[in-house]
Amino acid sequence: MDFKNLLNEAVSVRDKSYSPYSGFKVGAALYAKSGRIYTGCNIENAAYTPTICAERTAFAKAVSEGEREFIAIAVAGWGSKPGFAYPCGVCRQVMMEFCDPPAFIIIVTDGSEYRRHTLAELLPQGFGPLNL
Ligand code: THU
Repeated sequence: MDFKNLLNEAVSVRDKSYSPYSGFKVGAALYAKSGRIYTGCNIENAAYTPTICAERTAFAKAVSEGEREFIAIAVAGWGSKPGFAYPCGVCRQVMMEFCDPPAFIIIVTDGSEYRRHTLAELLPQGFGPLNL
């Protein structure tokens, strides 16, 4: 897998972000073991709490198409403040549901540089399906 391609997809779908309240646009590109890439953006709401993050939009699209196993996700988010936008805790927990923590790769970018992590690094000792 060419992770540059995955990053480009995340940056590209960021333009679709619906974020009139925060002004913080996020794009995500999720690489499934099937070989398909599912993209997602953050979608905000006037009532605030119904807001869904870009990562979970991508997971919802993928899982509803029958995907259950994933290799990597790229996250591109930057608003008025520069820097890397790491996945929030809720999104890390959703990753925990469908991804193998030591193997699943999370790549974040600020638009020019990128950093690569595993889910195990970003959610150490996470609670998942194997705990039930
Ligand atoms: N956001 C994401 O899309 N992904 C994250 O992991 C962090 C936060 C979105 C949610 C909201 O629309 C905006 O960024 C500001 O929190």
